[in-house]
Amino acid sequence: MVRRLRARRGRDRLRAVALIGIDGSGKTTQAHRLADALTAAGRPATYHRNAGGRRWLGRLAYRLGRPEPERLVGRSGLLAVESVLRWLAIAAAIASCLVTGRTAVMDRYAACQYASIRAHGGQRWERLARAGYRIFPSPQVTFLLTVDPAEAYRRIERRGTDHESMGWLTAADTAYRTLPEYPTFVLIDAGGPAEEVTRRIRAHLAGWLPPDGGDAGTAERLAPQARP
Ligand SMILES: Nc1ncnc2c1ncn2[C@@H]1O[C@H](COP(=O)(O)OP(=O)(O)OP(=O)(O)O)[C@@H](O)[C@H]1O
Ligand SMILES: [Mg+2]
Repeated sequence: MVRRLRARRGRDRLRAVALIGIDGSGKTTQAHRLADALTAAGRPATYHRNAGGRRWLGRLAYRLGRPEPERLVGRSGLLAVESVLRWLAIAAAIASCLVTGRTAVMDRYAACQYASIRAHGGQRWERLARAGYRIFPSPQVTFLLTVDPAEAYRRIERRGTDHESMGWLTAADTAYRTLPEYPTFVLIDAGGPAEEVTRRIRAHLAGWLPPDGGDAGTAERLAPQARP
């Protein structure tokens, strides 16, 4: 009885949702939308950007006259810096949602680091990273936004804030698909317009969110039956 009550209470609260996927798949766009939608539905949520500092390091390398961050700290150094920075970001995000009780919407999570390590050919570091990231709880839902790397490439070029090669995007796409966690991800086709992707994500969170638009009251009414 107590266990059943606890299980029910555990399901009642959406503690954390993660959005993962290759660069340009739309994680940041969708994570912001999801945090806003949850908050509007009466379930206060905070967006967390679990960055690994790669972009920042890229800018630093450029300023120091190196074409890419690998030339500054080496491939292994870069993976180490990225793993540590992302670990700290995730730890801070979890701590903050524990303190505030708000739902954490994670823009990237541990799986992104494992995929990054694989896609950069640093497999021997993956075990170490996994040992460090193991302490983080799995979010209730991890959405893997899937998109053709060519479309992701076009989006990044349109965004105009950074550049990624097709080779990198394809390697990252393969890395996500070969992770042992892959079967636990909720795959979201993210190749269409952003609104369509938002609808797909919301449909999977039917217990916590009205499917599209709607108010907090609707979410409450849907909650008991439709919760995943
Ligand atoms: N479904 C979509 N269709 C077309 N453009 C999109 C879509 N979703 C996002 N965009 C645009 O594509 C660009 C990349 O999106 P976004 O920054 O959300 O991706 P990301 O997965 O967070 O990328 P990164 O991993 O590089 O941070 C942005 O300029 C965004 O406005
Ligand atoms: Mg992003």
